[in-house]
Amino acid sequence: MRVALGSDHAGFNLKEQIRKHLEQTGMSFKDFGVFCENRIDYPDIAVAVSKAILAGEFNRGILICGTGIGMTIAANKHAGIRAALCGETYSARCARAHTDATVLAMGSRVIGSGLAADIVDVFLATPFDGGRHNRRIEKISLLE
Ligand code: RB5
Repeated sequence: MRVALGSDHAGFNLKEQIRKHLEQTGMSFKDFGVFCENRIDYPDIAVAVSKAILAGEFNRGILICGTGIGMTIAANKHAGIRAALCGETYSARCARAHTDATVLAMGSRVIGSGLAADIVDVFLATPFDGGRHNRRIEKISLLE
């Protein structure tokens, strides 16, 4: 498992917390920035992370902005990327099990770092259920 991690300025502090969490859990990851709180447009980071996943360099992405909404929209513009905005662990589990989401988006102004770390753990640990969900994902792919 290789994880691509990124945030805009609004998500920087939570991204740093998640970076430390990934280090503590021994997860292999790359930090795509940002590396300070200077303003940056969230699509720039969403594009970098999404392209790296589509290139096969990473299996999962974690994107953080103020709400998580902009990152989700930007990542989902990439054919083959399924990004899910999660604010609790049930959605994170279903994002993987039902939707085979490759990117987790979170809002730093919405949730705290403890919950965010739990969401990350669930998202990274949950496999895709397959079965009936394959047909539904194929229908999403046809829209791309
Ligand atoms: C930045 O102020 C904010 O708009 C951004 O982080 C994000 O919440 C957008 O969806």
